[in-house]
Amino acid sequence: MAAAEFVVVANRLPVDRVETADGEEIWRTSPGGLVAALEPMMRSVDGAWVGWAGMPDVELAPFDADGIRLIPVALSEADIQEYYEGFSNDTIWPLYHDVIAPPQYHREWWEAYVSVNLRFAEAASAAVAKGGTVWVHDYQLQLVPEMVRNLRPDVTIGYFHHIPFPAHGLYAQLPWRDQVLRGLLGADVIGFQRSQDAANFLAAVKRRLGFETKASAITLPDGRRSHARAYPISIDTTPYRELAQRADIRARAVEIREGLGNPKHILLGVDRLDYTKGIRHRIKAYGELLDQGRISVEDVAFIQVASPSRERVDAYVHLRDEVELAIGRINGDHDTLGHTAIRYLHQGFPREEMVAMYLAADVMLVTALRDGMNLVAKEYVATRADNRGVLVLSEFTGAADELRQAVRVNPHDIEGVKDAIVAAIEMPRTEQSRRMRSLRKRVLEHDVTAWSQAFLKALEHASQHRHHPEEPA
Ligand code: G6P
Repeated sequence: MAAAEFVVVANRLPVDRVETADGEEIWRTSPGGLVAALEPMMRSVDGAWVGWAGMPDVELAPFDADGIRLIPVALSEADIQEYYEGFSNDTIWPLYHDVIAPPQYHREWWEAYVSVNLRFAEAASAAVAKGGTVWVHDYQLQLVPEMVRNLRPDVTIGYFHHIPFPAHGLYAQLPWRDQVLRGLLGADVIGFQRSQDAANFLAAVKRRLGFETKASAITLPDGRRSHARAYPISIDTTPYRELAQRADIRARAVEIREGLGNPKHILLGVDRLDYTKGIRHRIKAYGELLDQGRISVEDVAFIQVASPSRERVDAYVHLRDEVELAIGRINGDHDTLGHTAIRYLHQGFPREEMVAMYLAADVMLVTALRDGMNLVAKEYVATRADNRGVLVLSEFTGAADELRQAVRVNPHDIEGVKDAIVAAIEMPRTEQSRRMRSLRKRVLEHDVTAWSQAFLKALEHASQHRHHPEEPA
């Protein structure tokens, strides 16, 4: 097989191997924002994508899917438990999201993380052409940049971190904190969502490893330079804009409203069922508004889409119980035979149906306690060509740095969330339109293509400098 000039390495392939109800194995688009963000760029370059197929023990030869060469990395059941569910999603994920849930530290999980990272690094190193580029993605693979550099010193290496990078006071808890920093520093460019994430990383490097940092540049002991800065990720706006214009999808939006008994206002939440998303906080706020009679179920319906995620990790099992108990209570207290308070959907939906929901929603509620970016906020904005609708956005999302005209909330402040919901419902059309115009301008101009181009340009610059170190950066 010919070597690829450009290799993406991510925990997941853009497609997942899944088993249907009748026992058939099929490919389905993978969950999460990472795949949605990278897929359009990958179609336009001659590249390969190294990742896991989402099921245990799937040993597959490389294959082509929709013009992208996919190189599957097999994970055993034990790898999934220790590297994916354990170290990635029960150690790093909670630690990097400001310990909203307590991180678990287990030495066996760390060992599995090291050995699985090596497997990904070896697959990428075998796939990349001489002098080519490897772009590593996200917290599951923080050791891969250094490992690829050791295996293939000729290639240019980028890393993008899709989730927050915590302040040193929290990061310092990690027993393997220095190893992880060294792993990331194998990259020529280390991209983060917010400038605060990059600043946290630079401060950790300086403090823990004592390397010299100047603005975004880090000088390593061997004289090599690495750069850490923010490249806020975005979405491919085209499919959202196009679907939002389609007559059948607009008709579906009307049907959704009718299905809820034609309420005056529809609130919408769309998340993976994850404790970082503040789902409980927004449910609580909505329930109290009903209890206090500030709104009624006839007037204000709430749709909560919570797609199943990481269902074997304890914190997620507990969250599901809590969310479903809270929703059951609110619906029990407030439903009428004609109206449901919270229409709860523990399911994933195709993009067409999501766009119909975005069009039906008068208010989009994004109340994450901590979120790297939050692409749902950007998807909602991209569909609202009519300049109607209100985005309520947590100040603890990466998106809040860019989407300044959203109604900002602190999700921990339940009274504040309640007031924001009421303000959103009552917002005059002229103000909705003024805010939405500004939000749309930002999202349409800074789309995923602008994001990947900015990152890859920085990477190219870094690579030229690496090959000609005498020239100023
Ligand atoms: C977030 C992470 C991704 C991850 C996605 C879905 O967006 O940044 O790396 O793929 O969640 O989570 P999962 O554990 O199902 O891959």
